[in-house]
Amino acid sequence: MSPDLRTTVADLLSASRARSTALTDAVDEADLVAQHSPLMSPLVWDLAHIGSQEELWLVRDVGGREPLRPEIDGLYDAFQHSRASRVALPLLTPSETRRYVAEVRDKALDALARTPLTGRRLVENGFAFGMIVQHEQQHDETMLATHQLRTGPAVLHADPPPSGSPLPVREVLVPAGGFTMGTSTEPWALDNERPAHATHVDAFWIDTAPVTNGWYAEFVDAGGYDQPRWWSEAGWRHRVDAGLVAPQFWKRDGSGQWYRRTFGVLAPIVVDEPVVHVSCHEADAFAAWAGKRLPSEAEWEKAARFDPVSGRSRRYPWGDEDPTPEHANLGQRHLRPAPVGAYPRGASALGVHQLIGDVWEWTSSGWHPYPGYETFPYPEYSEVFFGGDYRVLRGGSFGTDPSALRSTFRNWDHPIRRQIFSGFRLARDAAPGDVH
Ligand code: AVJ
Ligand code: FE
Repeated sequence: MSPDLRTTVADLLSASRARSTALTDAVDEADLVAQHSPLMSPLVWDLAHIGSQEELWLVRDVGGREPLRPEIDGLYDAFQHSRASRVALPLLTPSETRRYVAEVRDKALDALARTPLTGRRLVENGFAFGMIVQHEQQHDETMLATHQLRTGPAVLHADPPPSGSPLPVREVLVPAGGFTMGTSTEPWALDNERPAHATHVDAFWIDTAPVTNGWYAEFVDAGGYDQPRWWSEAGWRHRVDAGLVAPQFWKRDGSGQWYRRTFGVLAPIVVDEPVVHVSCHEADAFAAWAGKRLPSEAEWEKAARFDPVSGRSRRYPWGDEDPTPEHANLGQRHLRPAPVGAYPRGASALGVHQLIGDVWEWTSSGWHPYPGYETFPYPEYSEVFFGGDYRVLRGGSFGTDPSALRSTFRNWDHPIRRQIFSGFRLARDAAPGDVH
């Protein structure tokens, strides 16, 4: 029962609520209840769902209290209603929603004050509270993606990211051998990141930076979207059916210059910024055109965590310390990815940059449990999605809060999705005798 842990939890709960409040106070009531895309919930649904999950776990389970409003449970159950159908439900109004989440928070803080944070796996080291902090931050990133889909003038503002500088090498060799993947010791790691296990990876080369807008524009301008030979069969079918011609939010003017709309502002693409809002199919096609491939999830994690000197896997690319603004572009501090080379202090032991933050990175791996996986505390977070039509994404984006991210954190989505803050980096097999 550490008072420090309670203070940490309370601070993280208020930080996530400040972010949810800022994202929902930025628009008017009509906008909060509107559907900005069939892929997204109305913002007011996300906010009430955040409260509903907090009530379920922290007020009812941990706190042992009766439901505040049992009649609304079903409305905010993600499995009962598709995102596209939520707008038509009898949802709480914006003011009812704000009152509901505030009441839940009061009672959650009461549970935090009264509950011993030990003795039961759900609360050990504050896990249930950490899970709810991460859940709110995940939905905040989803709400940020909804903001990006909104049309109309900008309502969110942030400082520009730090400037970049060219990296000395374009790719590094990751030596063959085992490394420890996943974790058994991070107290707030989610079930799918567990347990730590030894994984063998053959030698491979990985790019020191994610693929940039400038490089991606070369693929587009070379006719990459017109040539089925670069695309997988499913990718080409999707490219045709969805009429894809460039990353989402890109537009070309008469002279051929590409522009990108970023949270309501249209501006020329920044050539040394990681490309964002591409689907996994587009990433695969680009990789084929470039003569490379996406890294597997194990390759990505080895490039991020493996320290060849100690043989250990680190918590983060730069070491074991939690991220600071010098390490990575996280937490919506900036509203876009940072240019290549902007985070020299965030490089991994092997010299790979910007693995954490900026853009979620597509991998070649499907969504599967690790050996020894155990569902905890509920199957609807990870388990029900295993084996489905998903690809794993790693590393978080500029919109991911540090509290909801680790080098072991695993995200997943359908390979056609690109409204998320998704980009990628390239890898290739090493030939025998390759040395860096
Ligand atoms: C881990 C990002 C795939 O948003 O669909 C939120 C997280 N799970 N509420 C999602 C999640 C339940 C999930 N992802
Ligand atoms: Fe959720």
